Amino acid sequence: MAETAFLKLPQRVYLGKGLLDDLGAFLKTRKNTNVLLFTDEGLLKAGLVQPLKDYLEENKIQYHIEAEIKPEPSYVQVDELFQKVSKFEFSTIIAIGGGSVMDAAKLISLLLHTKISVKDLINNPTKAQKHCATVFIPTTAGTGSEATINAIVSIPEKQVKFGIVSEAMLPDLVLLDVNNVKNLPKAILASSAIDALSHCIECFTAKNATIMSNGVALLGAKLIFKNVIQAYQNPSDIKAREALQLGAFYGGVAITASGTNIVHALSYPLGGKFHIAHGVANAILFKAGMETNKPAIKNRLAILCDNIWPEEGSKTTDEKADFVIDKIAQVVKDTEIPTDLRKFGVKNSDLNFLTNSALEQKRLLSHNMKKLSRADVLNVYKSVM
Ligand SMILES: NC(=O)c1ccc[n+]([C@@H]2O[C@H](COP(=O)([O-])OP(=O)(O)OC[C@H]3O[C@@H](n4cnc5c(N)ncnc54)[C@H](O)[C@@H]3O)[C@@H](O)[C@H]2O)c1
Ligand SMILES: [Zn+2]
Repeated sequence: MAETAFLKLPQRVYLGKGLLDDLGAFLKTRKNTNVLLFTDEGLLKAGLVQPLKDYLEENKIQYHIEAEIKPEPSYVQVDELFQKVSKFEFSTIIAIGGGSVMDAAKLISLLLHTKISVKDLINNPTKAQKHCATVFIPTTAGTGSEATINAIVSIPEKQVKFGIVSEAMLPDLVLLDVNNVKNLPKAILASSAIDALSHCIECFTAKNATIMSNGVALLGAKLIFKNVIQAYQNPSDIKAREALQLGAFYGGVAITASGTNIVHALSYPLGGKFHIAHGVANAILFKAGMETNKPAIKNRLAILCDNIWPEEGSKTTDEKADFVIDKIAQVVKDTEIPTDLRKFGVKNSDLNFLTNSALEQKRLLSHNMKKLSRADVLNVYKSVM
């Protein structure tokens, strides 16, 4: 474990129901409150943006709404959208949505008043500076993007996804309002919750984990493990959904100091070439990734087991690690996420591309406890076909 420790955090985080007055209090602290209300079609259809619009109108706050972002956007789409919204005068972005909406909003906050493009940030993220205030309101269960310093875009010409990393992405305000995940469709709840669980467990077992990242990763893993099946099977269980929302936030905080690794590195080409949703790609790879890493991370998995399932305390380290890996597989099975890559059109002839592309994810693989060989990576893909 690294010797020094830090966490990077949003300025203010509120958790509860109906947090619009907290948003209003924040906007009052801003000299100029012209707002870009950034969301997507699904959120508009789900009726989640209307209360925000009503609030802004009642309080005579000027806003422009933009809802054209597509799920899992490419850098080209974000650049195009920026050209469109930059015509409006705004000093605050309120992003309400899942990771796709928040990531695009992060990038727009960095492009505003500059001549740089997302492609420039891909090539050199140190160019990033924040040029407006950001408020993030997550509606999935979730990516934790509201807390991370990453924005993920796909790079179509390379058929891969890519994470741009900059502290300038940390928001001024986060609102974790359970009302926004109350009616989240089951399939999106499942894939986003497993994404969040993979953030917590990959961060807890990463090479650069610290005592601080471990604290939040463990809190997040426990909340998600203990609530995900209940939230999936009983959509009316609001407490379980609230627990997932908080667990996802903790996973995002853990990423700021530790880092995702094997599962995310191998999932990026699956998203980039086969357009498999990020959470689904992670769910497919999760068990096989942990099994590959097990020789290097079994002590960490045993600590997770001791903390989350203390009743299993008499097991050996190996048995505890297997117990956690079995729990991961069970959660993926019980949330009915398909785990055969062939169902998504992946063929044996794609294995070479997938392996080479995953091995290019050097930033993520540098966090992996086990040094992965080409054969390790290839075998993970083979085992899920
Ligand atoms: N920046 C980060 O740290 C980070 C972390 C993990 C994932 N990501 C990225 O986030 C993206 C995935 O985000 P996601 O899983 O949150 O999904 P998403 O934002 O892509 O949304 C998926 C779909 O769910 C709909 N939706 C969202 N909330 C809803 C609600 N409450 N009710 C009804 N429909 C709703 C959206 O309209 C959309 O159609 C990927 O691009 C992934 O790479 C980023
Ligand atoms: Zn993720």
